Amino acid sequence: MIDNKWKEAGYVTEPVPKDTDIKAEIRRMCKEKNAVIMAHYYTDGEIQDIADFVGDSLALAQQAAKTDADIVVMCGVHFMGETNKILCPDRKVLVPDLNATCSLAESCPAKEFGEFVKVHPGHTVISYVNTTAAIKALTDVVVTSGNAMQIVNSLPKDEKIIFGPDRNLGNYINSVTGRNMVLWDGACHVHEKFSLERILDLKASHPDAKILVHPECKGPVVKVADKVGSTAALLRFSQEDDAKEYIVATESGILHKMQQACPEKTFIPAPPDDSTCACNECNYMKLITMEKLYNCLRYEWPEIEVDKEVAEKAVKSINRMLSLSK
Ligand code: 13P
Ligand code: SF4
Repeated sequence: MIDNKWKEAGYVTEPVPKDTDIKAEIRRMCKEKNAVIMAHYYTDGEIQDIADFVGDSLALAQQAAKTDADIVVMCGVHFMGETNKILCPDRKVLVPDLNATCSLAESCPAKEFGEFVKVHPGHTVISYVNTTAAIKALTDVVVTSGNAMQIVNSLPKDEKIIFGPDRNLGNYINSVTGRNMVLWDGACHVHEKFSLERILDLKASHPDAKILVHPECKGPVVKVADKVGSTAALLRFSQEDDAKEYIVATESGILHKMQQACPEKTFIPAPPDDSTCACNECNYMKLITMEKLYNCLRYEWPEIEVDKEVAEKAVKSINRMLSLSK
């Protein structure tokens, strides 16, 4: 029986018993329950380190489709848990804190998006994976930042396309492909905040540093990039490239893996424009803590539920993405 106060809080608020070896207990419970932990690169380093699998949104969806675990604990945000549940409806999918939503997904309410689709008849609907299940159900093909360009390019040049919800990613794809996709006016509060001015100041004091940029950033920031890509693409680039310093314009959690893979290189988080803070964090991703992960495994809650009818529609657009990304 789930305590009402937990339901209200959206996570198990029970303190972890004193003297618990939390890492050992998490691993023990995973084994006992045939559970796997998946984590996004934006979660805290200790969450990434204890996870069985760490990846970008595309890799997490691909992994979700192939794991045979009975329980998946998705250490990331709500839509990632939903994608997992939609792909494998019979599996228990847990997210340690239901408050871990996403400002980009929230910038696209289903009712308004449905009306937007209706007033653009004859358009193929492409939605970024950072959306709710209800939006995916209105979508022809889902994309992530890792495959959006490739999937858009696979469609005929004259195909009419609606792209939502990220206007920055949409504008970037339009500018590279020469398309004129109709864009939903949404954005991520983290990526919108990077300051071009502060990035250029950093570049002036680190002239040899390369600038790595996620395509959810605004156009002027994308324009100064040496490499634009998904979290996994930026990570790969930083390993294969021969520069010694990088200015990284995406959520700062990615620096954990970059630094682990290349301890001899310097990774400088790009700063936001509205504070004296040196780096830029997603407050939703950072809600996932070791204590919540421990409790989530222990109580097998909070569990992700997706309406059956919505899931049956949404799975088609996700599967179309997976088959186009092989
Ligand atoms: P990727 O991991 O696909 O690059 O996405 C970034 C993001 O904002 C996830 O919420
Ligand atoms: Fe959503 Fe932005 Fe956080 Fe990614 S970084 S989960 S897009 S709010």
